[in-house]
Amino acid sequence: MSEIYVNPTTGVDTDSSKGTKEAPYKSPGFALFKDPDAKVYTFKEVEGKADYYEISASALKKAKKICESLKRKAGKKKKLEASKAEREADESAKLMAAMKITITKDESLPAPKKIKIRNIAQHIGERVEIHGWIHRLRLQKGHAFIILRDGTGFLQCVLTGEFANAYQTLTLTVESSLTVFGTISKLPEGKSAPGGVELIVDYYEVIGLAPSGKDSFTNKIQEDIDPNLLLDRRHLALRGETLSAVMKVRAAVLGSVRRFYQDEAITEVTPPCMVQTQVEGGSTLFKMSYYGEEAFLTQSSQLYLETCLPALGDVYCIQESFRAEKSHTRRHLSEYTHIEAEMAFISFEDLLDHIEKLIVKVVDVVMKDPVAGALVKQLNPGFVAPKLPFKRLQYVEALDWLNENGVQNEEGNPFKFGDDIAEAAERKMTDTIGVPILLTRFPVEIKSFYMKKCADDPRVTESVDLLMPTVGEITGGSMRISDKDELLEGFKREGIDPAGYYWFIDQRIYGTCAHGGYGLGTERILAWLCNRFTVKDCSLYPRFAGRCTP
Ligand code: 4AD
Repeated sequence: MSEIYVNPTTGVDTDSSKGTKEAPYKSPGFALFKDPDAKVYTFKEVEGKADYYEISASALKKAKKICESLKRKAGKKKKLEASKAEREADESAKLMAAMKITITKDESLPAPKKIKIRNIAQHIGERVEIHGWIHRLRLQKGHAFIILRDGTGFLQCVLTGEFANAYQTLTLTVESSLTVFGTISKLPEGKSAPGGVELIVDYYEVIGLAPSGKDSFTNKIQEDIDPNLLLDRRHLALRGETLSAVMKVRAAVLGSVRRFYQDEAITEVTPPCMVQTQVEGGSTLFKMSYYGEEAFLTQSSQLYLETCLPALGDVYCIQESFRAEKSHTRRHLSEYTHIEAEMAFISFEDLLDHIEKLIVKVVDVVMKDPVAGALVKQLNPGFVAPKLPFKRLQYVEALDWLNENGVQNEEGNPFKFGDDIAEAAERKMTDTIGVPILLTRFPVEIKSFYMKKCADDPRVTESVDLLMPTVGEITGGSMRISDKDELLEGFKREGIDPAGYYWFIDQRIYGTCAHGGYGLGTERILAWLCNRFTVKDCSLYPRFAGRCTP
């Protein structure tokens, strides 16, 4: 009988050990597994003498049990390896066979009509040519199902026979781009696919094959992936159903906003983004060197819009605004798309009426749009369009509400006149009240230099924030000071040198008028409409502290 040696301290349970005194195993179970008939000696100290001693009967019994379990595990592993090898062999045989299949275009078929997926319903029974990307892919015996996406919709494409078994089909990957040819057919009873139709493919070409394996799209954009990685891969993440849906709704909102302004005879202008004046306080200015001079990225185009009034009448712009917001919140971005309008010869009441009308009309048009409306319902199933008139609440009334409901100010005290209503308190109030609120008449001290004071109470301004449940403020606006001297006082109060604002002050000198306007955050209205947790999900490539890529 052979001898085998075990040393629990210096031994190792691997194939490199020999079970000798010089290269012992670590455990008796493993030693028996390697040589079931051997006599086992373990290294231990007996009466002060460390040496190899024959294993005790009880330790041997235990070792045999462990040995049996190791044998079972090894058997299972062997089986798995064998079936894996078998599968791989099958797979490669299938691929070898697939390589022999050539798929060819049948030139005798009618010439296809090149169409977009959104128009499929008008081409049932016709032969068409469609270009797109593989959104989902299912390969079955004798069938391949491709959900093709072209930006206008999704279409199930069915490949059968030689097409399903060809090498080109078996090696297809998600996000590859294709041209498919085939006939659009109504789905058989009991089957479901986007649009209730499918394309029976008679030929297709791969334009760009996306990677498989570790670089595959599905590997790069997994659920539960680190959110930062997902932002690094925003260019890929945008192809997903949710983000692309929000971007579609975004386009519809911007289109509907433009349509509203057109209907109201408000003219679009394009003010500069590189400026040398501030609008909403120095702390959020992005400074830049403009050929050596100090300049900023614009916080708001409001001042420029004001100067356009005598030239063009009421004006609006849809422009990027920039805010150096260092804190990370659900509703702040460093760059956002700012919808701003300015109107001449209006009263504060006119301004409030206009803002609520804008929101109601824009939402109405978006919801009636067959694509965008359906996407909003999908993203935000409980969405109820707001109705006119909106609830109006004055700042002082809001303070009463907050104090009555036990909401405290930022110092943890009851609210008092002059306190800013910070994001959390504002959201608590808006979410509890549960309807859009036009919050008006904020104190002079917490608002910008240009805001007009109320005639009946000079402590407060003709200012308004529109608050929406789940998001809070989506719009900020006011009537503007139309008197030059009063405006200069505003500059003085805020410690701003008026010299650089001569062109803005001139608006009050060359034919002043009562006027007012507002700014609407595109990402905020979308967060509300599409029920997104953060505005970051509503921006194409969000910018915030620490993120300027891709
Ligand atoms: O309240 P704000 O700062 O007002 C102005 O800029 C005015 N000058 C606009 C005007 O009267 N023409 O900003 C207006 C809106 C906010 O209600 C909010 O929706 C959005 O712009 N906003 C932001 N959105 C995303 N990230 C930020 N950091 C934002 N700051 C403001």
